Amino acid sequence: MTIAILSALAEEQHGLVDAMDGLQTLRHVGRDFWRGRLHGHEVVCALSGIGKVAAATTTAALVERFGVRAVVFTGVAGGLGPGVNVGDVVVARQFLQHDMDASPIFPRWELPGYGRSALASDGAMTDALAGAAAGAVQAGMAEAFASACVHQGLIVSGDQFVGSHQASDRLRGELQAAGHSPLAVEMEGAAVAQVCLDYGVPFAAMRTISDRADDSAHVDFALFVRTVASRYAQRVVSDFLRFWPAQADAH
Ligand code: ADE
Repeated sequence: MTIAILSALAEEQHGLVDAMDGLQTLRHVGRDFWRGRLHGHEVVCALSGIGKVAAATTTAALVERFGVRAVVFTGVAGGLGPGVNVGDVVVARQFLQHDMDASPIFPRWELPGYGRSALASDGAMTDALAGAAAGAVQAGMAEAFASACVHQGLIVSGDQFVGSHQASDRLRGELQAAGHSPLAVEMEGAAVAQVCLDYGVPFAAMRTISDRADDSAHVDFALFVRTVASRYAQRVVSDFLRFWPAQADAH
């Protein structure tokens, strides 16, 4: 049973790919896929690409071409929820496409044909990922973010980098008015969740918060990715694979 490790950033996968046994690199649909064994599992590592369509193509290829039966995603996101700060980790329980709007034919944010706007992550995989994330945060892997914590809840995705107070206030306000409480915003997760739902493949995702989706929180993005996000991603994914029983991949 093969598990896909999907990352937004190459830096998040370097260490994992280097640690794989029997590594094979395959090129397919304009992407590299790294296949091998890691901590007792058959795994395929790939980069999602940026945006919903790129991530959907990569996910469909992982299922169709590489036969993966579980998908784990790591990446960075902008913090939207109160108290979701730079350096924190958000583990997704639900995903929503914040730029889906087929109103008035369908309610705003509803996925036409799916009868709902939010898609759930896999419970057991998400529990395991949250446990691994808590371990990494408690281990104080990022000295600069000593008070970092792990949040669990709704991640929203759209084909837009949210980079101003106005944009993040509006996004949060509109979603909250409709009863949604977004913790973080990024550009891929909800698309991967939809493809995984279509194929009946369980999916879990974690995002390290790199910014507050506004114009005030200044973080050196490249430095953040190299020193914080990549270290979290590698440790969390390794611990997830160590704790995730090989026979459970099929559940
Ligand atoms: N990924 C990281 N930060 C983000 C932001 N502010 N908006 C969208 N995707 C992101």
